[in-house]
Amino acid sequence: MAEKREHWGSKFGFILAAAGSAIGLGNIWKFPYIAGENGGAAFVFIYLICIAMIGLPVLIAEILLGRTTQRNPVGAFNKLNGRPFWTMVGGIGVLAGFIILSFYSVVAGWSIGYIVEAVKGTFYNYPDAASAGEHFDALVHNAWWVIGYHGLFFILTMIVVYFGVKGGIERGSKIMMPVLFVILIILVIRGVTLEGADKGLTFLWNPDWSKITSQSVLIALGHAFFTLSLGMGAMMTYGSYLSEKDNIPAAALEIVILDTLIALLAGVAIFTAVFATAQDPAVGPGLIFRTLPVVFTKMPGGFLFAILFFLLLTLAALTSAISLLEVVVAFFVDEMNWTRHRAVLVFGFITFLLGVPSALSFNLLADYKLFDHTFFDVMDFLASNILLPVGGFFISIFVAWVWGLDRAVVELKKGAVNLFEKHAGIIRSWKWFLKYLSPVMILIVFLYSIGLIK
Ligand code: PHE
Repeated sequence: MAEKREHWGSKFGFILAAAGSAIGLGNIWKFPYIAGENGGAAFVFIYLICIAMIGLPVLIAEILLGRTTQRNPVGAFNKLNGRPFWTMVGGIGVLAGFIILSFYSVVAGWSIGYIVEAVKGTFYNYPDAASAGEHFDALVHNAWWVIGYHGLFFILTMIVVYFGVKGGIERGSKIMMPVLFVILIILVIRGVTLEGADKGLTFLWNPDWSKITSQSVLIALGHAFFTLSLGMGAMMTYGSYLSEKDNIPAAALEIVILDTLIALLAGVAIFTAVFATAQDPAVGPGLIFRTLPVVFTKMPGGFLFAILFFLLLTLAALTSAISLLEVVVAFFVDEMNWTRHRAVLVFGFITFLLGVPSALSFNLLADYKLFDHTFFDVMDFLASNILLPVGGFFISIFVAWVWGLDRAVVELKKGAVNLFEKHAGIIRSWKWFLKYLSPVMILIVFLYSIGLIK
């Protein structure tokens, strides 16, 4: 190995970094718009079930695989099994990291661009839903605007990862995550005190089951993976910097609670604002960019809240993007003996380039469609709704059936002896969920949604 493996400075540092990975555009940008498109509360309910029954068990499994092997996803499977098939499963994870980061950074770039718009006070020129939407369309129609901020976001991501696990990722998360919490709380208070906020809350809590289709169940499942950074080895990689002193089930539970709390709070902040200004919750990926500027122009102190919101979004995206890049970097450091610095520079640049067609999906390539979707949509669908659930499926199968639960439990006990003594039932259910429930549920949802079973 080129360099001695790094470790987190503290358990708290790990929790913040892992929560930072989980909490991202998924929570603040994606969750509200897919909930908006899929009927609100009913979707939220299915999503919460997926998080608790599949997300949490798989998260524990991933962190455990990382800590046990002290390797990136490819190295982890390789070390425990060595069959080419499982190495390939790890490889698909690294590939998914690549793909997600490439389009993720495009949206994160919009967010930086919107901080600039907010500071300039541009939103005041577009005070209603129609013109704010046109403003968004005009910005993303400008290829240079999109690619420029996509590039800037990449540079920020690369800087953090360049400085390593403790000096970059952990230190960055310790600064960014608390700022993020504070900003979100301020925005929630602002949201619920708006006149007409109750309609937004109703939308979020009162289910409309008629909007739920098999496709929306797949989206909820895919999103459970996406939002917890599961199915592609990001949590495995972060777990690989943990030591045997740490209690994995407890850490995983904290990460899940933080992630879910932030998604729900973001939902409250956003839907109260959207409904208070009588806007459409189902406008798709542009939701927060189209609707929130209108809200900001109308509310007292909106100038400041606008800046805070897009700062929040950018920080959340950054702590997630670094975990995506870290997967690819860890692979090249562990398996190819590269130095961290070289891996960051080379793969940062390559992933940036892969993101360019996604950036152009909103302008020059907007009319080029694969299966009726833009390149950006295809990348998102491929990664979130196919690669991540498939990855989660194989991770469950691997731990439960191939590596074996007996061995897994021996490893899991390290750092968690108390839990095993006092709450043996929790461990028993974890085994059961991982062995049967999560693979079977993922399979059913998956086959259903691609039309193989009806
Ligand atoms: N969890 C991140 C979010 O919600 C996205 C992500 C997915 C990060 C997969 C790492 C790995 O925005």
